[in-house]
Amino acid sequence: MSVIYDPVHWTPHKKLYDKLLLAFVGLYLVLFGALEALLHPQVTAETLVIRATGTLAFLMLHIILCIGPLCRLDKRFLPLLYNRRHFGVTMFLVGLVHGIFNLVQFHSLGDVGPLVSLFVSNTHYGSLTRFPFQSLGFFALIILFLMAATSHDFWLKNLTPPVWKSLHISVYAAYAMLVMHVMLGVIQLEKSPVLIGLTGLGMFTVVGLHVAVAIKQGRKDKAARRKPTTNNQQPTTNFIYACEVADIPDNRAKMLIIEGENIALFKYDGKLSAVHNLCKHQNGPLSEGKIIDGCITCPWHGYQYRPEDGQSPPPFKEMVSTYDVRVEGSKVFVNPKPYPEGTARPPAVITAP
Ligand code: HEM
Ligand code: FES
Repeated sequence: MSVIYDPVHWTPHKKLYDKLLLAFVGLYLVLFGALEALLHPQVTAETLVIRATGTLAFLMLHIILCIGPLCRLDKRFLPLLYNRRHFGVTMFLVGLVHGIFNLVQFHSLGDVGPLVSLFVSNTHYGSLTRFPFQSLGFFALIILFLMAATSHDFWLKNLTPPVWKSLHISVYAAYAMLVMHVMLGVIQLEKSPVLIGLTGLGMFTVVGLHVAVAIKQGRKDKAARRKPTTNNQQPTTNFIYACEVADIPDNRAKMLIIEGENIALFKYDGKLSAVHNLCKHQNGPLSEGKIIDGCITCPWHGYQYRPEDGQSPPPFKEMVSTYDVRVEGSKVFVNPKPYPEGTARPPAVITAP
């Protein structure tokens, strides 16, 4: 969490993450260079850099797109999510080296500037087989630049979460452009079909994981839904039956969807509190987090909220809505009417043993 512009809030975990990231980048470049030199000894150093950085950036983008769904499918992947933005910025820098080397190599010796040359040297925009695939790489790079430049939480706050999220969702547009960039490039330059095969496999993995998450989330939402009926509604109140006390492990939560409200119902210290399920940072599912140091801790990047009032502990100012909870014997009831964000509500005390 960051309220001022603090370039990077270093933690031992982030330092380790970055060391492993740099080791991965270094290892890939060395191995790719060695393999390429062995298989194609005639290639120039510039071509080697172009190929190594292009394939590395593309591979990194695949990993980045897979991290999100993998975390939703299995919590053991969460450590990868925690510092994904450093992964993203590194991927952009690697892609930038590829773009710059291409501009210098293929577009800097003519009468016009390299950027003009990029767009006018091939104008077959109407032909699929002769389409200037380089321009797709350029536009994708612009999107990746905007994302890397605004990746800090400082920008998330200043642009507001909805604007920031719309910008960052455009990574999928960049991905689509890069798939076309690579496919058309391989076809036009008559290069090895292996790259097409690998790109297909990458797409299949990315799309497959997203579909798997959508199916899993659909099932979870169905299980979390509670409809007010005469059977489960407390007479004369708006409290709806949520679950049994024993259904929620200590310091954990149960997700509920009642009348369109997405609620995280937490059990801690012999009490129960309910808050809105979506984290203010990037909509992380709070119900999948746990109580750490008395605060609900988001599983994605660790934002915290007090369960009894939905407020982040000082100096942070994030707030989520709260809800009323009641316990009767072993049964838990929740009123789905939200209180304004950060409103303190007394927790329900668990009485039954
Ligand atoms: C200004 C932006 C870009 C330009 C002008 C550009 C241009 C090119 C060119 C000319 C090639 C064929 C190179 C060759 O003869 O081997 C190529 C290939 C490729 N590009 Fe780009 N590209 C750009 C951005 C990107 C970005 C951002 C990525 C990935 C994140 C990317 C990924 C690739 C890949 C994977 C290949 C195939 C591997 C290779 O043969 O180099 N490109 N690009
Ligand atoms: S901390 Fe990032 S989504 Fe919750």
